[in-house]
Amino acid sequence: MNDPIEINRRNWDERAIIHARDATGFYRLDRVRSNQDGLDSIEAAELGDISQNNVLHLQCHIGTDTLRLVRLGAIATGLDFSAEAIRIARRLAEDAGLKVDFVQGRVDEAPRLAPGPFDLVYSTWGTICWLPDLTVWARVIAAVLAPGGDLYFADAHPSFLVMEARDGKLEPVFDFQTPVNRPLEFVSETTYTGDPTVMTHQSTREWIHPLSAIMEALIGAGLTIKMFHEHEVLPWQGLPIMIPTADGLWRLPDGHPRFPLSFSLRARRE
Ligand SMILES: C[S@@+](CC[C@H](N)C(=O)[O-])C[C@H]1O[C@@H](n2cnc3c(N)ncnc32)[C@H](O)[C@@H]1O
Repeated sequence: MNDPIEINRRNWDERAIIHARDATGFYRLDRVRSNQDGLDSIEAAELGDISQNNVLHLQCHIGTDTLRLVRLGAIATGLDFSAEAIRIARRLAEDAGLKVDFVQGRVDEAPRLAPGPFDLVYSTWGTICWLPDLTVWARVIAAVLAPGGDLYFADAHPSFLVMEARDGKLEPVFDFQTPVNRPLEFVSETTYTGDPTVMTHQSTREWIHPLSAIMEALIGAGLTIKMFHEHEVLPWQGLPIMIPTADGLWRLPDGHPRFPLSFSLRARRE
């Protein structure tokens, strides 16, 4: 089986089941079920008022952030290609007593499966690295947004994604741009939550997209960039040398030269 999207889907189905057990507390599922927690601090500070907004959460995984968006007053639809993730997301919504529409499908199928129109498309943390072609991604977003509607997007910065930690030092080891037809091939025995369960489907195919490709895709799809921020923090411990911040994020240790670990943007369909 060579289809990179199918390879990834098998891996995500398996991860979703492990994540639903939340053995390490990474996904804070007890707090999600009891409606006790909110979005991470970057999104919380930037998102603004979304009450009564019709929101599409692209690549919603097990729906934790989709539920948080509903708690902020949104009418939310979550879309993800993993059937397991969608099954778990629906159960979480039921446990939390929240009404959310969850749709199984690939990002490129969104205009057919969840046509909207939406006031907001929300996509954060670990999404576009699974997509080979951002022109397709951006066209999908433009197609489902209502005129005047926004994309809110936050993810790891490409300047961080090219790095690995070796002997406690960061080194660039990947090209800043991955060709569509030559994805990076990774094999991980376990998932990123710290759960020791060894997976059967350990292979993934991923793409690093430079900022220019992201911007060009969005502008090319007719969207206007309204906000762009670079951040010195990430919501997860992206590399072993990173240390926690007071507000639950992760940063480089003191003394290390600063560079952006993540970025966020808002783009509008005028
Ligand atoms: C790191 S998770 C995103 C997590 C997200 N920050 C959240 O709200 O929890 C990446 C998600 O993308 C989904 N995914 C990957 N490729 C996809 C595709 N082509 N179409 C739809 N979903 C995809 C995976 O199933 C997974 O749930």
